[in-house]
Amino acid sequence: MPLKSCCIYSTGVFSILFLILGISLVLSNVFPHFLQSVVEKEIVLKNGSEAFKAWENPPAPIYMQFYFFNVTNPLEVLDGERPAVVEIGPYTYREYRPMDQVNFNSNGTKVGAVNPKTYIFERDMSRGPESDLIRTVNIPAVSVMDKFKDDSIVGNLIASYMRSTETGLFTTRTVRELLWGYEDNLLKALRNFEPDLDDVFGLFYKTNATNDGDYMFFTGQGNYKDFARVDTWKGDSMLNWWTSDECNMINGTNGASFHPVITKDEMLYTFSSDLCRSIYAVYEEDVSVKGIPGFRFSPPSEVFANYTVNPANAGFCVPAGNCMASGVLNVSVCKQGAPIIMSAPHFYQGDEKFVEDVFGMKPRKELHETIIDINPLTGVIIQAAKRLQINVYVQKFSTFSQTGNVRTVVFPVLYLNESVVIDDTSALQLKSVIIEQNVVDSIPFMLIGVGIIMGVAFMFLMCRQKIPESTEAERQPLLTS
Ligand SMILES: *[C@@H]1O[C@H](CO)[C@@H](O)[C@H](O)[C@H]1NC(C)=O
Ligand SMILES: *[C@@H]1O[C@H](CO)[C@@H](O)[C@H](O)[C@H]1NC(C)=O
Ligand SMILES: *[C@@H]1O[C@H](CO)[C@@H](O)[C@H](O)[C@H]1NC(C)=O
Ligand SMILES: *[C@@H]1O[C@H](CO)[C@@H](O)[C@H](O)[C@H]1NC(C)=O
Ligand SMILES: *[C@@H]1O[C@H](CO)[C@@H](O)[C@H](O)[C@H]1NC(C)=O
Ligand SMILES: *[C@@H]1O[C@H](CO)[C@@H](O)[C@H](O)[C@H]1NC(C)=O
Ligand SMILES: *[C@@H]1O[C@H](CO)[C@@H](O)[C@H](O)[C@H]1NC(C)=O
Ligand SMILES: *[C@@H]1O[C@H](CO)[C@@H](O)[C@H](O)[C@H]1NC(C)=O
Repeated sequence: MPLKSCCIYSTGVFSILFLILGISLVLSNVFPHFLQSVVEKEIVLKNGSEAFKAWENPPAPIYMQFYFFNVTNPLEVLDGERPAVVEIGPYTYREYRPMDQVNFNSNGTKVGAVNPKTYIFERDMSRGPESDLIRTVNIPAVSVMDKFKDDSIVGNLIASYMRSTETGLFTTRTVRELLWGYEDNLLKALRNFEPDLDDVFGLFYKTNATNDGDYMFFTGQGNYKDFARVDTWKGDSMLNWWTSDECNMINGTNGASFHPVITKDEMLYTFSSDLCRSIYAVYEEDVSVKGIPGFRFSPPSEVFANYTVNPANAGFCVPAGNCMASGVLNVSVCKQGAPIIMSAPHFYQGDEKFVEDVFGMKPRKELHETIIDINPLTGVIIQAAKRLQINVYVQKFSTFSQTGNVRTVVFPVLYLNESVVIDDTSALQLKSVIIEQNVVDSIPFMLIGVGIIMGVAFMFLMCRQKIPESTEAERQPLLTS
C-alpha cells in the first residue's frame, strides 16, 4: 500500500514537472533560438566553410532565357498603325558565375572578388538555334536618330546616309547577333565623327566571360545579417559613357544581399545592377520547392510605379520633371544615352496603355513576375526568377524620314528570365536540417503530451484508490440500518 501510493504520487509530481518544463520551453523559445544560433554560426564566408564553397561556386544551375518579340507589321507601323509582335523563345543559356580573385581582408570581416559570368548556349532547352532570325527595332539607328534629332545639319547627313544604305527603323538579325553583338554599318560610319565610338552593337555585348568590376562583400562575421552583402562595387563596364554615380544614386547598393533570418515583413533582397538601382521584394506567399518550405518574395508594384505613387522613383524622371507612367523605367543614362526603357515582361503591373499600345502583350503574373523563394530557417535561396523586359522608346523624328508616321510607343524588344532552382544534393542537405529542426522543435510539445498522459493516469489511479473506501463508507449506514 505505501509503495503503491508513492508510485501514484510521483506520477502526479512528474506530470506537473513535465507540463511546467514543456510549457516554459515553448514560451521561452529556447530550442528555436539555439538552432538559429547554430545556423548563424554556419553562415559566414570563411575559407573552407560550406557557405563559402556555395558562394564561391554556386552548385545549382542558373539559366538565362531570352524571349524576343518578332515584329509582324513593320510597314503598317511606319504608317502609324499599332505595332504587332509575336513572342519567340526561349533561347536558353547556362550561366556560370564563379567568384574569382577571392581575397579576404586581414580580420575576415570582408572579402573582395570579381564575378565574371559565362553564358553557354543550350540548344536542347531552346526553341531554335542562335541563327534564328528576329525582326525588331533597329536600336543603334534609333539611338543615333535620337541623338541627332535636333542637329539639322548632321542629322540630314545621317538621314541621307541611312537612305543610301537602306537603314530603316527595323532590322532583321539573328538571335546571336542581337544578344552578343554585330558590327553595325551606321555606327561604323559615325566613327568618322566620333573615333571612340564602338561600332559593335549587342544587347549583351561584352558581358560574356567578363567581370563587371571589383566587388567587396561582408563575410557575415560578427553580424550574420551581413552575410554576402555587397559593401562596395566598382563596376563600370556598361556605364562608362555616363557617370556610374548617376546609376547608383538610388539606394546605393548593387548585387545580392539578404538576411538569413527571414520574417515575412523583413525586406531581404536586392537585385543586381541591370536597372541601375537596387530593387526590393516583399513577402507574397508560402511555397514549397522540392519539398522544402519557403517564403516567396517579389518586388511590389511600387518598384516600377511612377513618381506620384513612389517618390523614390523620381530619379527616373529624366530630364527632371519628365516622368513616365507606371510600369516602366527610363534607364537611358545607364545605356550610353540610348532610349532604352526597362519594364516587367509584357508590361506586367504596368499602365494599361503600354499593353494596349502593342498588339501581342499579355501580362500574366505567374509567367512575368520576378520571384525569389527563400527557406526561412536557413536563408537559403531555393528558387528565383528575375524577369525583365528591354524596350525602346520609339517616336517620329521630323529630321528622319526613316521614322515615317510612327506612333510614339514603348516598343518591346525582348524579355529575359534568369532563373535558378536549388540542386538535388543541396535540397537533400537542407531537408535533413529542416527535419532536425522539426524534431527539436517538437520536444517541448512531447514533454507537454507526456505530462498530460501522466496527469490523466494519476487522476485515474487516485479515483480507483478512493472509490472502494467511499463505497464502503456509504454502505456502512445501509448495513447497520
Ligand atoms: C583557402 O585555403 C587554401 C588552402 O589552405 C588556399 O590554397 C587558398 O588560397 C585559400 N583561399 C583563399 C581565398 O584565401
Ligand atoms: C577589420 O578590419 C577593417 C579594416 O581592414 C576595420 O575597418 C574593421 O574595424 C576591423 N573589424 C574588426 C572587428 O576588427
Ligand atoms: C562565352 O565565352 C565562352 C568562353 O570564353 C564561350 O565558350 C561561349 O561560347 C561564349 N558564349 C557566347 C554566348 O558567346
Ligand atoms: C521573325 O519574323 C521574320 C520576318 O517575318 C521571319 O523571317 C522570321 O523567320 C521570324 N522568326 C522566327 C524565329 O520565326
Ligand atoms: C531604399 O529602399 C528602402 C526599401 O528597402 C526604401 O524604404 C527607401 O525609401 C529607399 N530609399 C530611397 C532613397 O530610395
Ligand atoms: C501615376 O500613376 C497613377 C496611378 O496609375 C496615375 O493616377 C497618375 O496620373 C500617374 N502620374 C503620372 C505623372 O503619370
Ligand atoms: C529618358 O531619359 C533621357 C535622359 O537620360 C531623356 O533625354 C529622355 O527624354 C527620357 N525619355 C523619356 C521617354 O522620357
Ligand atoms: C522563365 O520564365 C518564362 C516565362 O517568363 C517561363 O516560360 C519559363 O519556363 C521560365 N523558365 C524557368 C527555367 O523557370
